[in-house]
Amino acid sequence: MATNRTFTMIKPDAVEAGNIGGITKMIEEAGFKIVAMKYTRLSPEIAGKFYEVHSERPFYGELCSYMSSGPIVAAILEKDNAVEDFRKLIGATNPADAAEGTIRKIYATSISANAVHGSDSDENAEIEGNFYFSELERH
Ligand code: CMP
Repeated sequence: MATNRTFTMIKPDAVEAGNIGGITKMIEEAGFKIVAMKYTRLSPEIAGKFYEVHSERPFYGELCSYMSSGPIVAAILEKDNAVEDFRKLIGATNPADAAEGTIRKIYATSISANAVHGSDSDENAEIEGNFYFSELERH
């Protein structure tokens, strides 16, 4: 059964471009409630741990160095059917394939600088939220 939470990061390209506000506004207007939020910067090691599931992929090194290249905003979002609805809101991983009106279509510039991350399953949403936020912060 779908849970009601997902996890997101606003990536370094979007933070650097001053799009935290625009992206957060789209998230809230789509009906998601922000239940935890953190502005932080990842070390390459922490980025590597977060993306460990991709460690065999050819783009893993690039992904980890990119995600540690500047500050990010991590958040836990709440809504019915959160994981699936959020993936619809952000659009395809590659902005060239993202549908009109999606966050990546509007804000992303490339497959690696793709503005936002969104969990791909309920299980990963929980793992990823727990990675960034302590029990106290994700009440
Ligand atoms: P994200 O949803 O954060 O999950 C894994 C990330 O890997 C993905 O977004 C992309 O930014 C990145 N990614 C996926 N495929 C490629 C690729 N071919 N080259 C570079 N980065 C990629």
